[in-house]
Amino acid sequence: MAFGKRATGAAAPAPASSSRPAAASAPAASAGAKLPGATAPPKPAAGAAPLVPKGTGTGAGTGTGAGTPRASGAPSVVKEPEPTAAAAAAATKDEESYYQVKTSVFDSLLDAVDLTQLGRMDAEAKRDELSDICREIINVKGYMLSPSREESLIADICNDVLGLGPLEPLLARDDIADIMVNGANKVYIEVNGKIELTPVRFRDNAQLMNICQRIVNAVGRRVDESSPICDARLLDGSRVNVIAPPLSLDGPSLTIRKFKKEKLTLEKLVDFGSASKACAAVLRIASASRCNILISGGTGSGKTTLLNCLTRYIDTGERVITCEDAAELQLQQPHVVRLETRPKNLEGAGEVSMRDLVKNCLRMRPERIIVGEVRGPEAFDLLQAMNTGHDGSMGTLHANTPREATSRLENMIAMGGFNLPAKAVRDQISSAIDVVVQASRLRDGSRKITHVTEVVGMEGDVITMQDLFVYEYTGEDERGKVLGRHRATGLRPHFWDKARYYGMDRELMAAIEETA
Ligand SMILES: Nc1ncnc2c1ncn2[C@@H]1O[C@H](COP(=O)(O)OP(=O)(O)O)[C@@H](O)[C@H]1O
Ligand SMILES: [Mg+2]
Repeated sequence: MAFGKRATGAAAPAPASSSRPAAASAPAASAGAKLPGATAPPKPAAGAAPLVPKGTGTGAGTGTGAGTPRASGAPSVVKEPEPTAAAAAAATKDEESYYQVKTSVFDSLLDAVDLTQLGRMDAEAKRDELSDICREIINVKGYMLSPSREESLIADICNDVLGLGPLEPLLARDDIADIMVNGANKVYIEVNGKIELTPVRFRDNAQLMNICQRIVNAVGRRVDESSPICDARLLDGSRVNVIAPPLSLDGPSLTIRKFKKEKLTLEKLVDFGSASKACAAVLRIASASRCNILISGGTGSGKTTLLNCLTRYIDTGERVITCEDAAELQLQQPHVVRLETRPKNLEGAGEVSMRDLVKNCLRMRPERIIVGEVRGPEAFDLLQAMNTGHDGSMGTLHANTPREATSRLENMIAMGGFNLPAKAVRDQISSAIDVVVQASRLRDGSRKITHVTEVVGMEGDVITMQDLFVYEYTGEDERGKVLGRHRATGLRPHFWDKARYYGMDRELMAAIEETA
């Protein structure tokens, strides 16, 4: 074993949790395994304690608390699940005994091991070490568990000590797009565009809050009653939002937009039917020939994904600067500077807004500026950039149609207090933006590009636009799947000249003619 056991050994009765704060808070500190850099350890034991249903004796807040039946060396038998699903009561009992065993093993683990020592090992080694010790404890205590049950118990304990507890199994699944935790007892996930409730539960809101704190501490932020809203990021890049009581009424609310390991590409979007081949080709050419592109859509409609896809066609020689609230984009190019905004600190100072970042970008000799999400006065600076030689800049924005996207931009600028006449702002928009791509999540959960629309100029006071592709609904099949097709309007793209300049006019012609 890499570090010493305490004198008492595994089977010795543990002192009350309050008398060993170091051990109790250690698992929290060692959250570094998952989240290096975690600073302030959360409240002792609250999150580190094993999952114990309320009322089994390990009262909330006391963590590994007294009162848990402790097996002190005497062999005890844990029943395997009944083969017949007949008795729900038996299942509950079974679950209870599982939790009892878990609590007991967990407590012994805390006694046996100085968990702070784990901090120096790498994640894999920590897990191995902990698993070995747990196995030993189970042996010493004489619990009879089936191998699969023993493995899941050990995995559970490791998740509580090293990771994000009950969230771990969900985080490990790559098919989940979002995890939504509404208080300790309701955890929803989004799979294939549909939201479903999971059986995952937290012991109580204290444990959930503790896990939220671990997550945000890891990126140097904090969340508590005095600053109950916080954005953060997991190590793997997943984006996290926490809103805690008193603002959220039924316990902390945690939302995780999971980072997909497997990156979507335009080709895959075509395979999924999110775009037609021709539509994807036009988008690829628009990106490569440095059009200024705005991606519009609702929450979770696939804007960021689309933006990521389009950035693949940026030439590797270009200097690209990305500005985001929580870094999600993953550019493949070698010459990329990634910037992230910062919320204000407790004293209300130190905020660095998106506008600050975009303005600063302009002094960094960018060739393209990519803004993760345009939602405020930075719209003005982005348009300026697009109009002053930073062609090929891109951003996403929240709107339901391409036309609405332009008026949203206008509103953002108006709200920013620039005091410009509406006509001047529209002029700016029409000369800056080349293409608006509209993303939508349809009612069957599928995501589609519903419009590829060009901004072509001004007619009087009105911005004129032309659709290159529109998605047309034709109905739905017997399973409720939306049917439709991407129709090319056959119009000659306005960015033709740009495409020609970059030697892609033939490809563009081919793409347009293919379906016209
Ligand atoms: N065309 C698509 N087909 C299937 N899933 C998609 C598609 N586009 C995006 N997704 C998935 O939908 C989720 C939300 O996408 P995201 O781009 O983050 O949305 P937004 O930025 O609009 O909020 C992600 O998990 C992503 O992998
Ligand atoms: Mg997004």
